[in-house]
Amino acid sequence: MRILVTGGAGYIGAHACVVLAERGHDVVIVDNFSNSSPAVLPRLAALMGRVPAHADVDLRDAAGMAGLFRTHDFDAVVHFAALKAVGESCEKPLEYFENNIGGTLGLLRAMKSAGVRNLVFSSSATVYGAPDTVPVREDAALRVTNPYGRTKLVVEQLLGDVCASDPGFHVANLRYFNPVGAHPSGTIGEDPGGVPNNLMPYICQVAVGLRARLSIFGGDYPTTDGTGVRDYIHVVDLARAHADALDFLQREERCETFNLGTGRGISVIELVKAFERASGRRVPFEIVSRRPGDVAEVYADPALANRLLGWRAELDVDAMCRDAWRWQSMNPMGYAGRAAA
Ligand code: NAD
Ligand code: WQD
Repeated sequence: MRILVTGGAGYIGAHACVVLAERGHDVVIVDNFSNSSPAVLPRLAALMGRVPAHADVDLRDAAGMAGLFRTHDFDAVVHFAALKAVGESCEKPLEYFENNIGGTLGLLRAMKSAGVRNLVFSSSATVYGAPDTVPVREDAALRVTNPYGRTKLVVEQLLGDVCASDPGFHVANLRYFNPVGAHPSGTIGEDPGGVPNNLMPYICQVAVGLRARLSIFGGDYPTTDGTGVRDYIHVVDLARAHADALDFLQREERCETFNLGTGRGISVIELVKAFERASGRRVPFEIVSRRPGDVAEVYADPALANRLLGWRAELDVDAMCRDAWRWQSMNPMGYAGRAAA
C-alpha cells in the first residue's frame, strides 16, 4: 500500500515509518516540523533503505494538502500529527484545539476529495482519565481531564460521525498507553526539546548528565511502593500495531477502537531501577509532592488488539530501558541540540 503518515518525523511516527517500510509499504511523510527535526530524515533513509518522500506541509493548509493528495495515490493514512503536552494544553487550549482538531479536519477534507477512506488514528489512554478499575478495557467510561485529552476524544467522536455518514470509511482508533524506548539501532528516538514532561525521557536526561536528579511525583499512592503505576510500551511494539491496524482495515472494512499496552503496570521506582540495570548509570531521585491531575494506577487490557489485530507487545521493560539508553547515549542532545537544558 501507499501510506500517508502525518507527523511521520515525530517520535512514534518515525518508528512507524520504519515498520511500514519493512512490511513493504510505500511511505510518504507530511510534517510541519513544529515538534520535530528534519535531521530525522537521513536517519530514516538509512533504516528504510531509501529517503522517504516527505512534504513540509501543515495539515491545516488546504491547498498544500490537496496538492499532496493529487501527487500521490494513497491507499490509507496513519495520522500521528498533533500537539501532545498535557500541561501546555492547559495554558494554550486554543492552539491545541486549532492544531489537533483543525489539522484532522484538514486531513479529512483532503481524504474525502481524493476518495481515500482508510485511517489509523493516534488516540491516547488519556481519554479514560482516572479509570474506575484496572486493567482498562475499551468500553470503560471516557472522562478526559485536560484540553489535550479533549482534543483526542473530540477527534474520536468526529471520526465516529464520519464513519456513520459513509459506510466505506474505515477507522482504527489506537489508544496508546505510555510509549517509551527507541529503535534498537539507537539512531531514532524521543527528542522532547526543553525540559521533558514524561518520565522516561527525564530519566534518560538524568542518566546522561543533562539533569541532576529525577523528581518523583508522589510517594504516597496506594500502590506497591507508593509511586504511580503505568503501562509502558516499547515504541517498536507500538509501531508494529499500526501496520497490523492497516491490515485489519483492509481485511475487515469496519471501524474499531483498540487499547495498545502490555497489560502490565510498572511503578516509577521499578522503572528507575530497571533503567539503572540496563544503563549501568545511577539515576538519583527525590520524592516530591504529587503532580496535579495524576492518577495512581493505569494499565491496559490489550485483549481486543490481541484478538482482532493479532498483535501483542513482545518487548519487556528491560528492552525498553536498554533501547532508550542506547538512543540517549548515542544522541545526548537529541537530533539537533533540541535537548539543550
Ligand atoms: P511528536 O510531537 O514527536 O510527533 C508529532 C509530529 O506531528 C511532530 O513531528 C510534529 O511536527 C507534527 N505535527 C504536529 N502538528 C502538525 C500539523 N498541524 N501539521 C503537520 N505536522 C504536525 O509526538 P509523538 O509522541 O510521536 O505522538 C504522536 C501521536 O501519538 C500524537 O497524536 C500524540 O497525541 C499521540 N500519543 C502520544 C503519546 C506519547 O506519550 N508520546 C501517547 C499517546 C498518544
Ligand atoms: C508517568 C509516571 C508521573 C515525570 C502522559 C499523558 C498521556 C500520554 C502519555 C499522550 C506518573 C511520574 C513523570 C517526572 C515522575 N501522552 N513522573 N516524574 O502522565 O502517565 O501520561 O503521557 O497522549 O496523555 O498524560 O506519563 O510519563 O508523564 O508519567 O514521577 O518527571 O511518572 O507522576 O506516575 P502519564 P508520564
